[in-house]
Amino acid sequence: MKSILSVVGARPNFMKVAPIHRAFAKHAAAVQHKIVHTGQHYDYNMSDVFFQELQLPEPAVYLGVGSGSHAQVTARVMQSFESVLLEQKPDLVLVVGDVNSTIACALTAVKMGIPVAHVEAGLRSYDRAMPEEVNRVATDAICNYAFVTEQSGLDNLLGEGWVRERIFFVGNTMIDSLHFALPAARRSDVRSSLGLEPQQYALITLHRPSNVDDKAQLKALLEVLTELAGHRKLVLPLHPRTRASIEGFGLQRYLSDNPAILALEPQSPVRFLALMREADFVLTDSGGIQEETTVLGVPCITMRTSTERPVTLTLGTNRLVPPQAEALRRALHAMLHEARPEGSLPPLWDGKAGERIAEIILDQCLGKHKN
Ligand code: UD1
Repeated sequence: MKSILSVVGARPNFMKVAPIHRAFAKHAAAVQHKIVHTGQHYDYNMSDVFFQELQLPEPAVYLGVGSGSHAQVTARVMQSFESVLLEQKPDLVLVVGDVNSTIACALTAVKMGIPVAHVEAGLRSYDRAMPEEVNRVATDAICNYAFVTEQSGLDNLLGEGWVRERIFFVGNTMIDSLHFALPAARRSDVRSSLGLEPQQYALITLHRPSNVDDKAQLKALLEVLTELAGHRKLVLPLHPRTRASIEGFGLQRYLSDNPAILALEPQSPVRFLALMREADFVLTDSGGIQEETTVLGVPCITMRTSTERPVTLTLGTNRLVPPQAEALRRALHAMLHEARPEGSLPPLWDGKAGERIAEIILDQCLGKHKN
């Protein structure tokens, strides 16, 4: 019996590991799959509700590292995860995405001679000012197997000297979770309970440090949202980082004084999907939401200067707009008054990526590891 530890730490990780866990459960005679939760995200809204709605089991191990600076979180995860590896001696560690828990656990495992597979490998924004980009580059530089979601991931890794045999183009487990949650999202009454009509509101998310940690930048974005609220109702689930910045900078009036802006707590995956699928459009600085809107065919403006997910631009409904007031005003004007892009589905984003990953790990990775 082989054993695999999959690491989750922050909100998007839960969506990426859930389908992999379900896929390994079908091979329970051959492999034991356990989840280690680092505790980087720990609130009910940021963590527990994801386990419930995505039907993830309780984590086998909870490290409880909590919040802190990048170095503090990374170091705490590494120290705790080393003890877990010494005790559990897994045959393989699986990490997903690009958060601090991803690089922390990959680095710990690799140095102990345990093979590491990275799911969602190879994505590059080529912007090292993004903490996630540093995590992506560093994780891919040391891991043994790369599972990629889109062609750019494959191309980037080959360009960085990876051998083709260790890269697997499997599709997108985030999209597996979207398909999993869709029936419940269709049944959800979240939209009507907020008094919203389908396609009559925009869904907004904002949490990148570059957009919310600087007062002038955050204020400029809130001003643009205030203008947009003259044309559409805005639904704005607030990430804890964003809420803390708005309160810390004294910018609450932008939200509290405007009945057309509904500022909400972070939403559960089912509720968020329900709001996203019936939105007129989405305005975000997230990574994964660019992909989810592409699959749903909902127009998306991404308020960033770069994306590590270029297929959402070339095939999907996403549009990249620098997070500056004038550029955003122009893009929003076009969104409100001009034809929207018709997207198409990127290859292999079919809801079966988790199954492909489990089969490849069982057939081609376990037992064949060479450092
Ligand atoms: C992290 C990821 C980011 C991902 C995002 C999704 C890194 C470097 N960044 O960013 O890629 O898009 O998660 O949400 O790993 N907090 C709470 N409760 C929680 C979690 C966080 O209140 O359950 C607050 C804390 O004050 C914390 C702050 O949010 O300091 C930021 O959390 P952190 O994990 O450092 O980064 P995120 O901005 O969430």
